Amino acid sequence: MLGNNTVYNDTKSDNLGGLIMSKRALITGVTGQDGSFLSEFLLEKGYEVHGIIRRSSVDYRERIAHLEGKPNFHLHFGDMGDSMSLVKVVGAVRPDEVYNLAAQSHVQVSFDSPEFTADVDATGVLRVLEAVRACGLEKTCRIYQASTSELYGKVEEVPQNENTPFHPYSPYAVAKLYGFWIVKEYREAYNMFCCSGILFNHESERRGETFVTRKITLAAARIAQGHQDCLYLGNLDSLRDWGYAKDYVECMWLILQNDKPEDFVIATGVQHSVREFTTLAFKHVGIELRFEGNGVDEKGICIAVSGSAPQSLVGKTLVAVSEDFYRPTDVVNLWGDPTKAKAKLGWNPNKTSFEELVKIMVEHDMAKVASEGAAAKVRTNLAEYLEKGIVK
Ligand code: NAP
Ligand code: GDD
Repeated sequence: MLGNNTVYNDTKSDNLGGLIMSKRALITGVTGQDGSFLSEFLLEKGYEVHGIIRRSSVDYRERIAHLEGKPNFHLHFGDMGDSMSLVKVVGAVRPDEVYNLAAQSHVQVSFDSPEFTADVDATGVLRVLEAVRACGLEKTCRIYQASTSELYGKVEEVPQNENTPFHPYSPYAVAKLYGFWIVKEYREAYNMFCCSGILFNHESERRGETFVTRKITLAAARIAQGHQDCLYLGNLDSLRDWGYAKDYVECMWLILQNDKPEDFVIATGVQHSVREFTTLAFKHVGIELRFEGNGVDEKGICIAVSGSAPQSLVGKTLVAVSEDFYRPTDVVNLWGDPTKAKAKLGWNPNKTSFEELVKIMVEHDMAKVASEGAAAKVRTNLAEYLEKGIVK
């Protein structure tokens, strides 16, 4: 039990006096970007939603704070590194559907913490599958595994679909590849309904602040409001297929409602570079950028301003490249083909356009920076900038 509103009643059965209970979902990674949107989505569908959160000395549950206290929303302590905790929660909740979203999800961090990443992102998947089996739910419980376009890594085909060969290119991707294969193995060996969604990058106003899109939208807002001088980025040429996270969680659910367990690529089918994302985000805050130079010498210079952006920015370098944000091996050409998801699940990959996504994120961050005020001043000295927490 967590707090007043999160009591779990472990004597609950599926059918109380003829009353059919709503479907029960268990979400690992409930505090993350996708976990928070998926919780909202499933609650709206009438599910009883259970989420696993880690014990930590500081509570960080900002993304789900608005859901706590809702009668159908429950939280349980557990950790992807701790089998017993997973068995206990799965045994208590007895879910109809498990959404395994928990992960060390930052690719660059996986180079610094490869062993932790492997434990959570690879062995953690095995632990979830085994917990479901240990609780005798392998015939009734459907499992969604949060797989990733990073599996395509050093891409061998463009665009990428369900048949494109994998070539993982980071410790994160290698760990996720194990997750993908162990899910497939359990499907074939034990006839379990478990599937992987191979999701391409999906972003939102709830995206972690060190992923490139959110780093850019926050910096654009800070620069436009005079709280930051310059944005440092790594590889500006990198290409991604960026969608809106809120649209993607629907697909996770659709994958589990399919009549048979299958893996699906989830993407928009549209590709943009980091430079394009940056240009558009700055445009939304009233700053027109021109990029000059190449590689580490490339700079984004302000050539005009509009709206409330200060005139004093004109002529200044607002975006610069730092090798600190280069990766030992970088995935540079992700572009998904969502044909199968469109045809078999009826999912619409273009519900939110790239332009709308950037706008949603920038508008959110303009309001956030305005409300936080000058406390959020980020200086341009790179060492201080890194120290400030706007890190890899
Ligand atoms: P996220 O915001 O980084 O959330 C990750 C979640 O995992 C957080 O709730 C985190 O909890 C939890 N977690 C990490 N380590 C854990 C552990 N040892 N035990 C229990 N929970 C743990 O990630 P996201 O963007 O929502 O992505 C969700 C999933 O989809 C991840 O598996 C990610 O790898 C995968 N994915 C994401 C994308 C994308 O573009 N977003 C694309 C493809 C695949 P704390 O709050 O305690 O840190
Ligand atoms: N984070 C970051 N910071 N990335 C930068 C920067 C920077 O300053 N500058 C350039 N990039 C480039 C990275 O090198 C990468 O090629 C691209 O921007 C996207 O980086 P991220 O936003 O960190 O995302 P990612 O693609 O590495 O990983 C995300 O998407 C995967 C799906 O493809 C994560 O959400 C993963 O969990 C997910 O599996």
